[in-house]
Amino acid sequence: MIERTLLLVKPDGVYRSLVGRIISKIEDAGLKVVAIKIVKADRKIAGEHYIEDREWMVSVGNKTIASYKEKGTPLNDTALEIGMRIRNFLIEYLVSGPVVPMVIEGNEAISIVRKLTGATEPKRADPSSLRGMYCSDSYQFADDGKRPIRNLVHASEDKKTADREIAVWFKNKELVEYKRADETAMY
Ligand SMILES: Nc1ncnc2c1ncn2[C@@H]1O[C@H](COP(=O)(O)OP(=O)(O)O)[C@@H](O)[C@H]1O
Ligand SMILES: [Mg+2]
Repeated sequence: MIERTLLLVKPDGVYRSLVGRIISKIEDAGLKVVAIKIVKADRKIAGEHYIEDREWMVSVGNKTIASYKEKGTPLNDTALEIGMRIRNFLIEYLVSGPVVPMVIEGNEAISIVRKLTGATEPKRADPSSLRGMYCSDSYQFADDGKRPIRNLVHASEDKKTADREIAVWFKNKELVEYKRADETAMY
């Protein structure tokens, strides 16, 4: 089923000149870019992107706790406290430099873009994924530095989030409809 999702290159990806390679990976998988821009985001838009969603903040905290547990290091904070702290780091980081939001369209685009993106923690991300191939950060290294994990990209998690996040960065009329020349061969 044709879907749309938001893929956003974070400042580390732009500073490291990886935008082209990120797009290539998406295009190579048969998906297409239907909107794109480079921007310096303000605090309002960054706060809307990383919305104060309790469920998401708890899940960010739980993933962090699980990673620490595996390393044998206990964490005293609750999942929500960790998630709220990370959300603030993320907002600060997003406004700190250039970002490249884009809308990706194609069959099962949401889960395929997540697959190509790889796991949140680059240390454990599949080596063929964007985060596994181009990054080496970890939860603990990021936390020690009081900063968000440098993992190159943000990708929407599900349909509801994708619709919301696309609307944060783009107006409907900025999305362009076109056919890839190879679409009839792919589907
Ligand atoms: N414990 C942590 N320390 C620093 N940064 C974190 C931590 N947990 C998550 N992050 C950052 O928050 C972002 C959002 O988290 P999450 O939605 O769980 O991951 P994903 O980007 O894989 O969907 C991550 O991409 C990462 O940059
Ligand atoms: Mg997420």
